[in-house]
This record gives sequence, structure tokens and C-alpha cells, in this order.
Amino acid sequence: MSETPASGPAGPASPAEQRAPRTTDGTAREVTPGSQAAEGTYRAQPVSFVRRGTRLQGRRQKAWDDHSDTLAVDVPRHISDTSVHPDYVFDAQEEFGRTAPLVVEIGSGLGDAVVFAAKENPDKDFLAVEVYTPGLAQTIQKIVANDLSNVRVVQANAPEVLSTMLEKASVSQVWVFFPDPWHKTKHNKRRMVKDTFAPLVARVLEPGGVWRLATDWSTYAEQMRDVGTDSELFTNAHEGELVGAQSPLTQARLSGVDCELSEDPDSVGGWSPRFEGRILTSFENKAHKAGRVIFDLTFRRL
Ligand SMILES: C[S@@+](CC[C@H](N)C(=O)[O-])C[C@H]1O[C@@H](n2cnc3c(N)ncnc32)[C@H](O)[C@@H]1O
Repeated sequence: MSETPASGPAGPASPAEQRAPRTTDGTAREVTPGSQAAEGTYRAQPVSFVRRGTRLQGRRQKAWDDHSDTLAVDVPRHISDTSVHPDYVFDAQEEFGRTAPLVVEIGSGLGDAVVFAAKENPDKDFLAVEVYTPGLAQTIQKIVANDLSNVRVVQANAPEVLSTMLEKASVSQVWVFFPDPWHKTKHNKRRMVKDTFAPLVARVLEPGGVWRLATDWSTYAEQMRDVGTDSELFTNAHEGELVGAQSPLTQARLSGVDCELSEDPDSVGGWSPRFEGRILTSFENKAHKAGRVIFDLTFRRL
């Protein structure tokens, strides 16, 4: 199933909005929570995911049935079932019953990283943003198994969470670990981390807040580095580090594992050491097995 669109807040109608679903008499369809449309765009840009199996079975279904009321944020929808109504604002204090630094993981997958971090950091609250229903159910299972009160999940398209659902400057860290690489050139436009994404992350981060990224695809790593470097809203916390022979990009080029084989050293650097708070997930493990290089980046909100 392809993903469905959601319009942004007020402003001139974008082409995608103009193509928004219509009723049979041609008027724009009423926006109701959970209602469905049939395009894979948000603000006229393709979304970064394709909906995969949404059906749950067995223990995942039970975990969802028993705990989604308390652990999954109940989001009013706009157009699709992964959209966020632009009027909805998340109240972290109300949700967690306390005031604590909020860490948001985008594309949390099966929940390994967020659950590990939440266990290690009981003084922080965590919001796992994911569209993949079985992944969310598995995350819920892990939250319950670890008896954690400092994690919530939300099933939603991340750019919408960052654009309107989270309050400005309300987040201490945003994590984007191993986002789908969309590595074929014709699919690059689906990548989540692109120039339009940086202002959305900047919007929710408090001054000095941290944006952590990791990927195992060298061309995406370069794109991420450019996005952070070109944004006036961020500074690279490891500017000029891991350059030349030390650079993971130089290593990828020398091996030709996922890019053109080349002896050109990376003269820019700016890569971070591996983030200690990141547990090895199955996605990262697969990358290691395939011989791909891991790239970490850390940007600080100015
Ligand atoms: C390659 S997986 C990595 C999962 C996890 N971060 C890890 O390292 O194990 C990328 C995840 O991002 C999710 N995703 C992709 N685009 C998204 C979006 N726009 N909003 C929320 N989640 C998204 C996918 O469903 C998928 O689970």
C-alpha cells in the first residue's frame, strides 16, 4: 500500500493539496481522524516510506490491544492514518506526568535503540516515531517487558510530527538512526534527511539541543553532512574531525563497498565517534555483515 498525503498548515494550496481527495460532487473531502487518501506525498514531496504489512498477530496484537491506550500517543489524523492533524500539539508534561528532557527517535524500527536508551536514562523521556505497525507493537512489547514509564510511541509521518505536533524548542535531542537509504538515484528524492528536513528538526530542538544521525550508506552520509553543514540553524559538533585516512568516507571509497572505488581521501571530515548511547540494532548488524561502513554525525542547534 502506498502512503497517503496530508496537507500542511494554512497557505496557498500546493499541487498535492489541490489534488487532495474530493467527494463525488467535487468538493474537498472532509478531513476526519483516520480517513484515508491515496497519494504518497506530504507538502508535495514524496514521503520517505512505503507502508508494509500493517497486520498484527499473536503476541504483537495482544501487546497492542493491552497497552496502546497508555503507550501509543492518540493522534488526531488529518488525511491518512499516519498523518497528524495540524491543530494537534503533544503535551509531554501531561503524557509523562513530569517535566524531563525529551528525546525523539525518528524511524525507531523495532524499538531496540529507544528502549535501551530509556532504560539507561530514567531521568529522560523518549518518544519513538514510526509508521510501521509491527515495529510499534514490538516496541510496546519491549517497553512493557522492561517496565518502563519513560517511553511513548507514536504512529506518524515524522515531518508532520516535527512541523506541528511537537512544540517549538521542546526537545533536547532528535535521533535519526539508519533511515531508509533510498540508494537508487531515482529514489533519492524519498530520503528523509534533505535540506527541507533540517528546519523541521531545528524547530523542535531547544537552543543547544542535539541532532544525532547514523547511516551505513556513504552517499546518504555525505548528503546528511551537507544538510547539517549548509543549515544556518546548526553547527557540526565534530567539525573537521575524522578527516583523511581516519574518515569513514575514505574507508568506504577505498573498499568501494557502496560507492565508486576511489583513492580520493575525504578532505572534509566532520564525522562523530560512534554514539555510545546507541545499541547495535539488527539494521546496523546487517550493514556490518555486508561490509558497509557506519557514519555518525552530531549537529548542535544554534
Ligand atoms: C531502516 S529502518 C531503521 C530502524 C531503526 N532506526 C534501526 O536502526 O534499527 C528505518 C525506519 O524508519 C521508518 N520510517 C521511514 N520513514 C518514516 C517517516 N516518514 N516517519 C516515521 N518513520 C519512518 C521505517 O518504517 C523504518 O522502520
